[in-house]
Amino acid sequence: MAKVLVAYGTKMGGTAEIATKVAEALRAHGHQVTLAAAGEVRHGESYEAAVVGSGIYAGRWRREAVGLLKRLARASDKPSRLWLFHSGPLGDEHGDDPVALPRKVRALADRLGAEDVVTFGGRLPADARGFIARAMARNGMGGDWRRLEQAEAWGGAMAAELEGRQE
Ligand SMILES: Cc1cc2nc3c(=O)[nH]c(=O)nc-3n(C[C@H](O)[C@H](O)[C@H](O)COP(=O)(O)O)c2cc1C
Repeated sequence: MAKVLVAYGTKMGGTAEIATKVAEALRAHGHQVTLAAAGEVRHGESYEAAVVGSGIYAGRWRREAVGLLKRLARASDKPSRLWLFHSGPLGDEHGDDPVALPRKVRALADRLGAEDVVTFGGRLPADARGFIARAMARNGMGGDWRRLEQAEAWGGAMAAELEGRQE
């Protein structure tokens, strides 16, 4: 059993739900999981493994998720395994497009020895708040392309790796 942090940066809640699915899958395999918003992760707590994800906004990660990666990179007891994901692409044409990490996040990922990033499609609620988000929803970009069942399967695969077995 490993002590695992699952943390997310979100504005509209979609990334939090992906993180929750990953956390549930890890817990179902007996791991001790702390699920938290990236900005709420307690200082000084150490984890054997971590999963950090963010919603993508204008090509960037949410500030609190980047901040958490910075903190982890500075920590003396870094998690020995780190998985990253982000959620963003909207639409039937783009919902499956893999997205590269933003440059700063890439540099932190390298410092931390993270696995390859996993891209999930995004979700834009029809009643999204904010001027740009509302305009995007009005222009037909509203919908949900996250494939939460893949988040669950991914969490299961992580659990298998943490237990040192193939699934
Ligand atoms: C203002 C705005 C800008 C966005 N910019 C991007 C972007 O640059 N790339 C992308 O893939 N998705 C972009 N998206 C889509 C979001 O990443 C997607 O809605 C995601 O699911 C939001 O995550 P959250 O619900 O956790 O905040 C944008 C959405 C909004 C509202």
